[in-house]
Amino acid sequence: MLDIAFAKPALPKSGALVLLLEEGAAAGSPTAALLDAADAATDGAVSRALAAAEFKGRRDQTVTVLAPGAGLSRVVAVGLGKLDGIAARHLEDAGGHAAAALAREAAAAVSTAGLTGAQAAHVAMGLALRSYRFDRYRTAEKPQDKPKLGKATVLTAELPKARDAWGGLKAVAEGVFLSRDLVSEPANVLNPAEMAERCRKLQSLGLKVEVFGPKEMTKLGFGALMGVAMGSANEPRMVVMTWNGAGAAKGRTKAKPLAFVGKGVTFDTGGISIKPAGGMEDMKWDMGGAGTVVGLMAALAGRKAKVDAIGLVGLVENMPSGSAQRPGDVVKTYSGQTVEVINTDAEGRLVLADVLWYCQQKYDPRFMIDLATLTGAMIVALGHEYAGFFSNDDGLAQQLHDAGTVTGEAVWRMPLGEAYDRQIKSDIADMKNIGGRPGGAITAAQFIQRFVNAKPWVHMDVAGTVWRSKDAPTIPKGATAFGVRLLDRLVAEHYEG
Ligand code: BES
Ligand code: MN
Ligand code: ZN
Repeated sequence: MLDIAFAKPALPKSGALVLLLEEGAAAGSPTAALLDAADAATDGAVSRALAAAEFKGRRDQTVTVLAPGAGLSRVVAVGLGKLDGIAARHLEDAGGHAAAALAREAAAAVSTAGLTGAQAAHVAMGLALRSYRFDRYRTAEKPQDKPKLGKATVLTAELPKARDAWGGLKAVAEGVFLSRDLVSEPANVLNPAEMAERCRKLQSLGLKVEVFGPKEMTKLGFGALMGVAMGSANEPRMVVMTWNGAGAAKGRTKAKPLAFVGKGVTFDTGGISIKPAGGMEDMKWDMGGAGTVVGLMAALAGRKAKVDAIGLVGLVENMPSGSAQRPGDVVKTYSGQTVEVINTDAEGRLVLADVLWYCQQKYDPRFMIDLATLTGAMIVALGHEYAGFFSNDDGLAQQLHDAGTVTGEAVWRMPLGEAYDRQIKSDIADMKNIGGRPGGAITAAQFIQRFVNAKPWVHMDVAGTVWRSKDAPTIPKGATAFGVRLLDRLVAEHYEG
C-alpha cells in the first residue's frame, strides 16, 4: 500500500505538489492557499500554465505543470467541482486522479486546503486506491516501466482529525486490496482450498474462521453445492468468517448478526453446458462476490467495527468431466427443496442456495446480503456502471441505494414477482435452475429467494462490476473490489454502535 503521511500545510521546497482546487476558485480562496504560495515562489508560472490549459477546477479535470520553478518537479492541479454537497466519492476520485498523474514521481505533497481533516482522509483513500497494482507475475518488467509513487504526504490543517479518519479508511483500503488480489489471481493458483487458506489468514485480524470441506458439506446435505463441485478435481470449501465487534464493545446481550454471503466459483467453465472458448478466461473472476465478502470482513475487523457480522463464501470450481453433473440431473438442496439442473452453467445459484439456507438456519441473521457474478443478463441490463440488486425489504433497499450514491459504488434496484417465479417451475422437481432468456437476472434472483426463508435479504448481481477493462479514478483496470466500500458504508451508517 502507498505510504500515506499527514503534515501541516507548507509549500514543499522540491518534488511534486498536488493542488485540489474548487471550481471557480479565485486566487485567495480557501482551496487555493498553496496555489497562491506556489505562484509567489514561481513568479506566477503555475497560474499562467493553468490558465493556458483552461483549468477551471471542474470535477475530474486534471492539469500537470512540469518544472514551474522554485525547485518543484511538477504541480498537478485537480478540480474538486463545487465544495457544496461534495461526497466521499468525489474526494476519493480527486485523490485517484492525483495518483495517476504522479506515477513518475517517487513522492508528493498533496494540498487539501479548504477541506476538513475527514475530507483529507478521503483524498488519501483515493490516492491509495488508485496506486494498487497486481504485479506478482511480472518477472521481467524494467524498473523505468514500473510506477514509482511510494509516498504521499497529505497536507491538512486538521491533523488529528485526518489521522483518525484515515485509521478507519486505511483498513477499508486494505480490505479492497485483499479483494482485488483474490479476484486477480488465476484459477490455477486460487482454487477453493487456496482461497479458504487465504481466508484463514484473517484470523490475525481477530476474525473467527471456520472451513468446511466436502465431507462436512455432504453430511449437512449440501446437494446443490456438491453437485456443482462434482466435476472438479479441486475439492469445494465453505468458509464462515465471524466478527464480534458489538458485544465486545458494549458487553450487552447478543444482537442478531449481519450476514454477507458470496458466490465463490473459482473458475466457471460452464460444466457440461460448457461455455464458448472466447473470453472464458474471464471466468477466473467468478469468485468476485466471495472476494468482496472476504474484503469486507477484513475491512470491518481491520477498523474494529462495532457490529456483529458474519461472512460466508461457497467455494467451488465448475468443470466438465466424467464425474460432472449432467443437464437433467435432480439435486436435493440443504433446504430439502429439489432442483432440476437444466443447465450446468447456472451454477452460482446452486452454490448460494445451500450457503444461504445454512446461513439463516444457523445464525438467524438480522439480514442477509448476497453478492454474486450471477448472470450475463445483468450485464445486458445495466452494463458496467451499476450493479443490479433485488430485495424483499424496502428499508434495507433504500439504505443500500443511498450508500451507493455516497461511495460511488452505484446500485440499481430490480423487480421481483410471482410471474417471474413461475418461469422456474419444473415438470419433475420443485424448481429448475434456469428460467429462459427473458429477465434472466430476475429469474436467477427468484431462484435465490426460495432459499432465504423470508429473512430480510438483498441479492446483488455484480457480474458487470467486479472487473473493469479500463481505468477509473480510484480503480486501476482489472479487479474492482466493488461492494467493499459500499457495504462498509452501509454498516457504518446504520448498524454500528
Ligand atoms: N458466471 C456466470 C455469469 C457471468 C457471465 C458473469 C458472464 C460474468 C460474465 C454464470 O455462472 C452463468 O454462466 N450464468 C448463465 C446463466 C444461464 C445459463 C441461465 C448466463 O448468464 O449465461
Ligand atoms: Mn456459469
Ligand atoms: Zn458462474
